[in-house]
Amino acid sequence: MLYYNKVGIFMSFVFSREAYERRMKWYTEARFGMFIHWGLYAIPARGEWVRSNERIPNECYDPLINEFDPKHCDMREWMRAARDAGMKYVVMTAKHHDGFCLYDSAYTDFKSTNSPSGRDFVREYLDAARFFGLRAGLYFSLIDWRHPDFPHYGDRNHPMRDDPKYENSGRNFGRYLDYLHAQVRELCTNYGKLDIIWFDFSYDELRGEAWRATELMKMVRSLQPDVIIDNRLEVSGEGFGSLAACRPTPYHGDFVSPEQIIPPEGLKDAEGKPLIWESCVTLNNHWGYCATDKFYKPAPMLIRKLVECVSKGGNLLLNVGPDATGRFPKEAIDTLQQIGTWMDRNGDSIYGCGVAGIDKPEYGRITRREGTLYYHIFDNTLGPLPIFGIEPGRIKSIRRLADGSEVPISKSWVHSDYPHLAFADLGLDPVLPDPIDTVIEIRLNNDDETIYNKVRKEL
Ligand code: GLC
Repeated sequence: MLYYNKVGIFMSFVFSREAYERRMKWYTEARFGMFIHWGLYAIPARGEWVRSNERIPNECYDPLINEFDPKHCDMREWMRAARDAGMKYVVMTAKHHDGFCLYDSAYTDFKSTNSPSGRDFVREYLDAARFFGLRAGLYFSLIDWRHPDFPHYGDRNHPMRDDPKYENSGRNFGRYLDYLHAQVRELCTNYGKLDIIWFDFSYDELRGEAWRATELMKMVRSLQPDVIIDNRLEVSGEGFGSLAACRPTPYHGDFVSPEQIIPPEGLKDAEGKPLIWESCVTLNNHWGYCATDKFYKPAPMLIRKLVECVSKGGNLLLNVGPDATGRFPKEAIDTLQQIGTWMDRNGDSIYGCGVAGIDKPEYGRITRREGTLYYHIFDNTLGPLPIFGIEPGRIKSIRRLADGSEVPISKSWVHSDYPHLAFADLGLDPVLPDPIDTVIEIRLNNDDETIYNKVRKEL
């Protein structure tokens, strides 16, 4: 495919599926990660869009830096919480739309190292993530509401968008892009290996080459050859990107990033091949800390939503917005612990798993790793449980995943009218051992062609 670079020279770009799949392997196995939105906006505590929503100019927002001293921030505690919840990777905001950097950027004074804390939180975070064996990434905002060369008046989102005093003559977007590129370069140079870069986001005219995206991507890939990058140099939470269209640009994203939604039917590219995606989801209704938002999603719901993502072939990136003291909200801590308790027993049905190729049963969902199937039971059946999608003779064993105990194949007369189905005998108790999600692990006879291979050919 041919592209113009910024001086109008044709360039060719060759997409290597092999290199792509190699790069994405750990990520599709990980399935579950933590997003962290944190910055000065934790002080007003009305979410990270507070500047835009309330039209706050620089002179009113900047002084917050003098208060930013999160004494209770212990990145090891944050990372321990992520690991204990069963998350395999983390992504933290190095800079959000407000322009405040949580790291020691050489190109701005508006950074945490200039706050009373004097700390480089990106470095602390990356060190702690690595200590706990987590893959670590950085979110970086393409939008910067503080930079004088970023469009103000008339922009769709800028805090000063309605005020003609902030009209744009004299603003030099090229100079802004130099700043953006320089900041990305320093993150890619000064902090060791990054596993993910999560750019955010494109809209209206500001997309693709408007960001000098080919050049940016080339630089990032030369400094961080294995890094995984989202698709928001091209799109936002809406839109799929050029990889989905099977016309990858040099700055195509590695994964689709649906926001606050789980794709109803999973995602495929234009040729019908499964796409790699990650739903990012808030715990309450804000990314950045919001003191009054107590609408937290219950842990049982989130566990089932994680299962839903995996059963549709995607990842879940669950967000925490730490407060201005540097602590996770109590509700977040409790929720993560509950998820961790379930993951500790049932993680095998999540990691490395994906689409089962069997229709979703009415009582729950199915995930699969190669020839092993995981039936997630949310809702007990009355009497023995029908094992949809597998011919009865093919089942080698059924075990409760949480304790490894055998689940016998039912011999009851009650299902004698359904000889094409095997039924699992979960015992006499009508209440499921795990009311959130009881997982049974089904192994198949391998002398037969497994359903896995059969389905794989169809994908
Ligand atoms: C957005 C928002 C934002 C948040 C993000 C997470 O598009 O602008 O504040 O960081 O998506 O997906």
